[in-house]
Amino acid sequence: MSASPNPIEQSFELAASLSADITPLVYQRLFDQHPETRAMFRSQGSELVMGSMLALTIEAILDFAGPRNGHFRMIACEVVSHDAYGTPRELFIAFFAVIRDTLRDLLGDEWSAEMAQAWDRLLVEIGGIAA
Ligand code: HEM
Repeated sequence: MSASPNPIEQSFELAASLSADITPLVYQRLFDQHPETRAMFRSQGSELVMGSMLALTIEAILDFAGPRNGHFRMIACEVVSHDAYGTPRELFIAFFAVIRDTLRDLLGDEWSAEMAQAWDRLLVEIGGIAA
């Protein structure tokens, strides 16, 4: 744990202090913005899959924005497995923006210019990985 978390990490930490679990918020937003995604998840046991998909994505984001120990490599791997699931690339990338927007709305006044900037940069870099 670093003494001064980077703005991405800060945004997740603040969100965790405001909401015990952001999973329902993220998927509600995903399904509102991209209704076709609802039917892409299996009908049984999808909550487990969706929960772990988000948890692993967050782990990858934190690694990518921080130490780059290796978890971030999962993003490139999942681009390939999601091609096989039939998830279009734009949608794959959109998931990261959905997470950002969920945090921004949850944080309200506590969402800072530094967080906005760091997230903008992150989304551009991830777009590059997934393209
Ligand atoms: C809107 C965009 C996305 C959609 C619609 C989507 C959809 C899916 C689907 C249908 C599955 C398979 C579930 C099953 O086994 O029934 C899955 C699994 C998974 N997704 Fe996504 N996904 C998206 C974005 C992402 C992103 C951005 C990441 C992380 C970089 C990710 C990581 C995973 C992981 C780790 C799994 C678990 C299985 C595996 O290792 O492949 N997903 N996703």
